[in-house]
Amino acid sequence: MPSKCQGMTKSILEKGKKMLKNSYSPYSEFQVGCVAVTHDGQEFAGCNIENTSYSLTVCAEVSAISNMVSSGHTSIQAIFIFSNSEQFVTPCGACRQTIAEFADHDIPVYLVNQKNEIRKHQLSLLIPHAFDLELQQ
Ligand code: THU
Repeated sequence: MPSKCQGMTKSILEKGKKMLKNSYSPYSEFQVGCVAVTHDGQEFAGCNIENTSYSLTVCAEVSAISNMVSSGHTSIQAIFIFSNSEQFVTPCGACRQTIAEFADHDIPVYLVNQKNEIRKHQLSLLIPHAFDLELQQ
């Protein structure tokens, strides 16, 4: 059963909703926003950015994480993914691997729908056996 709160502050909600507004998605008309929260409590937001050459589209999660890393942060404690849909948008495979690069595998991934309902997943369940170069050596 989705709930309304689950650790989502007003600030995170406002940033996520703003990202849905800023989403550049003229092709799919499907808006996605993302807020990555670092271990020192900072919040970095991003939205999906589409391209007429479809494969160049940047997902909201990658956009938020790019913002975070280019601001000097590399450690995510929780991540929120927003959509304008009644459904909960789960991150695509590439985004799961990108989140895993900057997070412990047990971090919460919160999905927030149009009605601000929240569903929580653990990253380890979204991407079991994620590729990790350190484990290959
Ligand atoms: N999208 C994201 O931003 N994140 C995901 O994890 C899945 C998909 C975007 C990409 C595209 O702009 C739109 O959703 C429809 O696929």
